[in-house]
Amino acid sequence: MSSPPLRDLLLLFLFSTFFVCGASKPTSYPNKNGEQAKHKRASLNVLKTTVTDTQTIDWISLDSQGEIAQAPPPRTPRNTPRPLAELELPGAELGPPGTVPVSRADPDYLAKASAKELPGTQSLKRQSSNAGVHWYVSSNQTVDNIGGSCVFSLFAPFTERTADFSLLQTAVTRQNVLWTGGRGPPTPITQTVEAGWINFIDQVAQPHLFTFYTTNGYIRDGDNQGGWNTEHTGWVQVDPTIHPGSVFTPLSTDGGAQNNLKIEYALFQDHWWLGVEDRWIGYYPASLFSSISSDPASTTLAGGSDSIHYYGEVFNSEETLTTTDMGSGQFANTGYGHAGYILNMTYTNTNNVSTPYNAVFTDTDVTRYTHEAHLLSGTDMGSYAFIGGPGAGGVVGG
Ligand SMILES: *[C@@H]1O[C@H](CO)[C@@H](O)[C@H](O)[C@H]1NC(C)=O
Ligand SMILES: *[C@@H]1O[C@H](CO)[C@@H](O)[C@H](O)[C@H]1NC(C)=O
Ligand SMILES: *[C@@H]1O[C@H](CO)[C@@H](O)[C@H](O)[C@H]1NC(C)=O
Repeated sequence: MSSPPLRDLLLLFLFSTFFVCGASKPTSYPNKNGEQAKHKRASLNVLKTTVTDTQTIDWISLDSQGEIAQAPPPRTPRNTPRPLAELELPGAELGPPGTVPVSRADPDYLAKASAKELPGTQSLKRQSSNAGVHWYVSSNQTVDNIGGSCVFSLFAPFTERTADFSLLQTAVTRQNVLWTGGRGPPTPITQTVEAGWINFIDQVAQPHLFTFYTTNGYIRDGDNQGGWNTEHTGWVQVDPTIHPGSVFTPLSTDGGAQNNLKIEYALFQDHWWLGVEDRWIGYYPASLFSSISSDPASTTLAGGSDSIHYYGEVFNSEETLTTTDMGSGQFANTGYGHAGYILNMTYTNTNNVSTPYNAVFTDTDVTRYTHEAHLLSGTDMGSYAFIGGPGAGGVVGG
């Protein structure tokens, strides 16, 4: 056999290049995402690994994360029974004393982790394809703050594809921070700490608590730069049972039981602590946000937030318009007992006073997902909003 003609080799090369490029989905994250997360995983000193119904948990020594910060004063439990995390249930297998849980992400998912972004930013790059479109019911209040708290309904929204996601969340943000981590000149970006309730099956098999942070306006994820849950370093886990990725029970059903989860971010002694119900479960060190900027720390998210968001979001992972639900899948006007909601939305002002949230809600497309806002309601639900809808096709759960 003679060696193949040069032309054939060239064609083969062009074809394979085209194929590889053509096969990868548009995403704002570099392919290094998965590799970095695997590297982070390998660097953990895992003392025990357990498997729950929904995920694999690596147990690491609390102290292996460095010196652990002083938590804010204890939180008062609500006077109603609260949902329990999977690791709080009787019979759950835990790690040795002194360890904390870290949920292990699936490598296949990490290699193609979905883009995240804030509402209001997408119009700048509205694409011709539906793959990668985010649908929102969004709101934000521009106000100096050191965090905020709210109560999320706990529905299990139908998701059409395992790479679609459906969430209700808060984002505590600092705008116009000069980011010096890129190759070019310093760029004004938005920094965030985020948390909420999500159904994202590729991430965790059942609806769960999530956290997210970005130091660089979503330009890239990576260790100490940004990312979901504990996929990259940044988050410090303190609680022995509730962690980013925790599945909770019981959930809510349309026309049946209503359950919810209270969540709060608080800037306390240079750390952004996340409160879940009666516990401070962990934190993002504020230095993550100041270390990548030439600005004084006080003008980054390390020094406080200048806007807070409460919203619902659906991610359309493939080309066809998604039928993924938001909230319960019911439109907002079906109200309590049917629609998803966020109650008691507040921000904590710079005098450390919890203050009712007051903002305008907007919907990307009211034929898919809607809101009904009751801000400063004067009831025991404070500032609240029903949020949701069935997505394309108009069928709840399909
Ligand atoms: C804010 O107030 C809470 C009590 O509501 C208190 O425990 C906490 O220490 C205060 N935080 C700051 C930064 O003063
Ligand atoms: C914040 O809300 C205003 C309307 O109140 C809207 O014009 C703006 O786009 C929102 N910003 C973001 C980042 O969502
Ligand atoms: C909302 O806040 C009010 C006032 O603090 C409280 O009475 C009520 O129980 C809260 N609602 C929920 C669902 O936690």
